[in-house]
Amino acid sequence: MKILGLSCGTRNGNNDTMCRVALEAARDAGAEIEFIHVFDWDIRYCTGCVACSRGLVMGKGMVCTQKDDFAALFDKMAEADGVLIVDPIYESGGSGLFHVLCDRMGPGHDMGMLLMADGMLKEQGKPGLDPKYLKKKAISFVGIGGSDWACRVETDHAMLAMSPAWKVINNEYFSWSKDVIMQDDKIERMKEIGRNLCKAAADIENAAWMGKPGACPHCQGNNFYIFPGTTHCVCELCGLEGTLEIVDGAFRFKFDPADEHKAHDTISGKKLHGEDIFRNEGRLMNLNKDEEFKRRKKYYTQICAPTQAPSKS
Ligand SMILES: Cc1cc2nc3c(=O)[nH]c(=O)nc-3n(C[C@H](O)[C@H](O)[C@H](O)COP(=O)(O)O)c2cc1C
Repeated sequence: MKILGLSCGTRNGNNDTMCRVALEAARDAGAEIEFIHVFDWDIRYCTGCVACSRGLVMGKGMVCTQKDDFAALFDKMAEADGVLIVDPIYESGGSGLFHVLCDRMGPGHDMGMLLMADGMLKEQGKPGLDPKYLKKKAISFVGIGGSDWACRVETDHAMLAMSPAWKVINNEYFSWSKDVIMQDDKIERMKEIGRNLCKAAADIENAAWMGKPGACPHCQGNNFYIFPGTTHCVCELCGLEGTLEIVDGAFRFKFDPADEHKAHDTISGKKLHGEDIFRNEGRLMNLNKDEEFKRRKKYYTQICAPTQAPSKS
């Protein structure tokens, strides 16, 4: 069983250290371990070209126009049984590097799309996708912060697991952690997170959330968007809609159970989203040939040209 740890922090800084703490505990529990300091890898922005989703829909398999280390990094994750991501908290959320990883995981690594592409390739008599891309996987996240500004980070982090539909085992953050290497309670918790990940990865069919229960009983999320002036809200992580109610002295998110199949982290929810996008793309397919569209595009484009970047001029 293999556990892969990724750190998005500075070299040998607190995030690297805490990742290594969990990996050591995983190794002691019998796992093979590997550590990646993500900044050492060439990981570029998603350019939004959508070649990845087009490639899957057209039966070309997994493609990306960025020629960097991301495909190799994703292969490392795909080959592991459990993945741990330790990430510095920036502006109350995940780091920029983490967000780049998240975008690169986007549509081209969405389990709903991958399953559809695999089926399509097989229907054409071709070998399907490499089974490692369809494997169930356990993943945990830890955010390390220098203060207590942290309220978005768990949602940011869990978003990365959404696309490949990997099972989140622990997702938490440590505040006031510039000296975390001296804080034994946090080191102990990190070891526990490493061991939990091992346990989950060893029995992935029965793997379950091992953190504190969240207000959302579906995804354990604690962040909600409240529609202004209403009691109606959306769980920012799984996208279910409902209300927040106080049950036994704590907020509890209530949604109609008949809606649960729409949750963004379920294959049925991904399928619904895929169908919506497909319908919308179909509606827009001939827009480039529409005279009024062409006129508006030309009008707005000529208003101002972008300023050249100094490094490129
Ligand atoms: C751009 C930037 C933004 C930051 N924002 C936050 C924040 O909102 N909340 C917080 O707790 N710490 C914040 N920090 C502190 C970092 O989380 C902390 O420096 C980091 O975890 C150190 O990790 P490292 O030693 O692995 O590099 C910020 C640091 C930087 C550089």
